[in-house]
Amino acid sequence: MDRFVKWFRNSTPYINAHRGKTFVVCFGGEAVMSADFPHLVQDLTLLASLGVRLVLVHGVTPQLAERLGKASLDLAYHGEIPVLTAAALQCVKDAVGTARLDIEAGFSCGLPQTPMDGAALRLLSGNFLIARPVGVRNGVDHQHSGEIRRLETPAIRQALHQGAVVLLSPMGYSTTGEAFFLQSEAVATQAAIQLGADKLIFLEEGTEAMAPRRPGQMDPAQAEAQLASTDFAAERRPAWAGCVQACRSGVPRAHLIPRQQEGALLLELFTRDGIGTLITAGQYDVLREATIDDIGGLLALIAPLETQGILVHRSREQLELEIGNFVVMERDQAILACAALYGFIEEDVGEIACIAVHPDYRELGLGHDLLAHLEQRAWARGLRRLFVLTTQTAHWFIEHGYRPGRIQDLPVARQGLYNYKRNSKVFIKTLEAAPAARSPTA
Ligand SMILES: CC(C)(COP(=O)(O)OP(=O)(O)OC[C@H]1O[C@@H](n2cnc3c(N)ncnc32)[C@H](O)[C@@H]1OP(=O)(O)O)[C@@H](O)C(=O)NCCC(=O)NCCS
Repeated sequence: MDRFVKWFRNSTPYINAHRGKTFVVCFGGEAVMSADFPHLVQDLTLLASLGVRLVLVHGVTPQLAERLGKASLDLAYHGEIPVLTAAALQCVKDAVGTARLDIEAGFSCGLPQTPMDGAALRLLSGNFLIARPVGVRNGVDHQHSGEIRRLETPAIRQALHQGAVVLLSPMGYSTTGEAFFLQSEAVATQAAIQLGADKLIFLEEGTEAMAPRRPGQMDPAQAEAQLASTDFAAERRPAWAGCVQACRSGVPRAHLIPRQQEGALLLELFTRDGIGTLITAGQYDVLREATIDDIGGLLALIAPLETQGILVHRSREQLELEIGNFVVMERDQAILACAALYGFIEEDVGEIACIAVHPDYRELGLGHDLLAHLEQRAWARGLRRLFVLTTQTAHWFIEHGYRPGRIQDLPVARQGLYNYKRNSKVFIKTLEAAPAARSPTA
């Protein structure tokens, strides 16, 4: 019960943050055929009922393979693009039609047996995608394989505005009335870009997607480096490349989530760390000056350390008075770390204090980044000597260039406040030059 209450409270900021936002969610035909599909429908319905504007894009790989098999047809590929004959196009139409009907059925009949009973959800699909033929490349005519020309964004926006969930299939139509087969990942990517979506989410298939993610967050350049590695699975490339392209085209966040993990979508969207891989061009962890609104988060971070005697006790009132000295590291509105710099201007000396990293985020370099940031601030304020009083963290400071000092080395005003009972050790660092900029982890 306690865990539920805690989880629910912790998810509140995300519920607020996601309301009114547009998410494009792409899943493969495997998801539609899987026994878990009702769970995915339920999670998507929950998102929609929390006010998320949803655009769903589905693939048809297994549905198409089945039909091609029955017709004894093989698709020849040139690069990633299939050569789609008229006979194969017929299989595509069958596969898309079946998948689309199965999805509509899932969203219609699943709800009465679920906790989402009564959440009337309208799924809308249509001729939202304008396509053109891939044409002849290197002498090969790709026939009915197409490329996206544009999306009918006003019509999609209108449908979303009216509370519908928009479903896009990997088929587009040319202005001459022909149908073309498209890659679902490309449809999702273009939809996210052209609609100015807040998130592009790919639900990935396969065991590779289930493997522990390392790292959980990256920028487009890092994702591109992964894509370039020779052992990167070919079937994952379109989604990863789509994320990179979307981020570079202004979509703030792109997520890759293992579809086969139960509740993956909810875990990714409603927990601080998620479970998938987040690709974002923007800054994820923010290092900034603390404000009075951070007091609650600061107290939650430092109170356990005060109890352990690692940090000196600071009351709420004292924190309010001294908040201007604090900086915090924030992720998704949660405070992961903090530190303070107190200046003794007359003596050009500064004190580093209350440096603390949440236990779940230690040894990731956040402490280092905070200290480097405060040293830069100290330098900018003309403070050329820094000291710190510590009971249990001496070696960490030594490794950052601090050397043992004496109580007499402290500014006079600080000597008077020294707590002999606490018996902290003094460490001092002289800043010889402007400290280096923060590491990119921050
Ligand atoms: C000290 C603290 C701020 C370091 O933050 P962090 O983000 O985990 O540190 P970094 O990732 O930059 O550095 C990790 C390195 O510091 C070492 N380290 C962490 N705490 C240490 C300690 N108390 N003493 C010595 N080394 C320590 C780690 O072993 C690691 O070393 P390695 O890379 O050689 O394995 C963090 O451990 C913390 O919040 N501790 C409790 C509060 C505290 O002691 N504050 C200082 C009060 S004066």
